[in-house]
Amino acid sequence: MAWENIITSIDIGTSKIRTLIGSFAEEKTRDFHVLGVWAANSYAIRKWNILDMEEFKSNLDSSLEEAEKMSGEQVTGVNLSFNSSSFDVVTSKWIIAVSGDEISWEDIDRVLDMARNGVDLPNREILKVVPEYFIVDLEEGVKNPIGMSARKLEVVANIFSMNKNILGNMKKAVADVGIEIYDIFPNLLTSAEWVLTKRQKELWVVCIDVGASTTWVTVYEEWVLKFSTVIPIGWDSVTNDIALWARTSIDIAESMKLSHAVVWLSEETDKEHEIQLSEISSSEEGTISNIYLSQIVTARYEEIFWFVTSELKKIWRDGMLPEGAILVWGAVKQRWLIDTAKRVLRLPVFIGLPVEKESLTETSISDPVYAWVVWNLILWNRYGRRGNALSINLGWIFSSIAKAFKKILP
Ligand SMILES: Nc1ncnc2c1ncn2[C@@H]1O[C@H](COP(=O)(O)OP(=O)(O)OP(=O)(O)O)[C@@H](O)[C@H]1O
Ligand SMILES: [Mg+2]
Repeated sequence: MAWENIITSIDIGTSKIRTLIGSFAEEKTRDFHVLGVWAANSYAIRKWNILDMEEFKSNLDSSLEEAEKMSGEQVTGVNLSFNSSSFDVVTSKWIIAVSGDEISWEDIDRVLDMARNGVDLPNREILKVVPEYFIVDLEEGVKNPIGMSARKLEVVANIFSMNKNILGNMKKAVADVGIEIYDIFPNLLTSAEWVLTKRQKELWVVCIDVGASTTWVTVYEEWVLKFSTVIPIGWDSVTNDIALWARTSIDIAESMKLSHAVVWLSEETDKEHEIQLSEISSSEEGTISNIYLSQIVTARYEEIFWFVTSELKKIWRDGMLPEGAILVWGAVKQRWLIDTAKRVLRLPVFIGLPVEKESLTETSISDPVYAWVVWNLILWNRYGRRGNALSINLGWIFSSIAKAFKKILP
């Protein structure tokens, strides 16, 4: 297999750093074989700030090294994805006069450049400019204006940026580990682009992406990102609660959460029994009631969705989004989570399929917590290395980004 068909992506999370090395038989396709995959513990990032550069580099290095060993390849460049509380999105609108009779790529480049330069973002670096739609003369909502006859071209674009210093530290750490960054995809953008359909983005919809320590909320209407916010709690809070109330270690609490915790158990309807902590770890003693464990986790899961509701209240949209809520999360496969979300959010709730079926055939990445690292691998193969392909869906958006942002790629 030729080297250029091998792509590596790294997803940096607050609990894990995941590396995936994949080999694509063809360019533009989604089908790939996993050559190497590894999830190393991430100890040095809290709220997406690097707290300890040396520790971070060592965690990054071990994730990469293990994946390299498995694949027998030496990685020189990667696509990076992560979330950061310093991400911000602003909408920029810009208009230009079309240079010829028809709208050309040069016009698109020009209007996107203007939209990018038209926003004043001190101490921030722009990561992506996503053209959500165009206005051609007075015709709104045009997704692909190439070849149209017009005098004026206007773009409505979402500009994703992040704090320069935080990004600088991230880039420095990756460079110190000896690898080049080809591109950076904020998880916030990737998950919404990947799981929301065109129709959902046209009407009001909220995309809820819960990670280990934060929850991202993005609301779209008429293809424009109307609102986005980050709530500083995630599924690790559930683990912390169990550790506190069961007076046990974080590791044991995490195992209890994954293997024993069930929501909505009650003394009236469910049979109470004691879970032996020694079954989870031989060094532990004592027991915890299944009902009590359920109460602990239920309270926290509900709370996360209450926080989302109160964010939606700020834009007068709690319980009032026609396309409802789309959940993106590693454990969304759990049925009860949807029911809990529906009850608290008072909205229809759907799962945003994190990884498409064909990508799940490889068991090593079948857990949806690999969604972002898989998405980025596929995105890069489809759109990353060419800038001229045009389609009116996601491909259009990402090819535009690649084209418009070649200049700022690290
Ligand atoms: N099947 C499951 N049931 C319950 N919780 C789960 C399940 N699978 C994963 N989780 C929880 O999801 C969280 C980890 O999610 P993920 O791996 O996406 O985080 P991350 O990428 O390291 O962090 P970040 O929030 O920074 O993106 C942990 O709290 C983990 O316990
Ligand atoms: Mg993550």
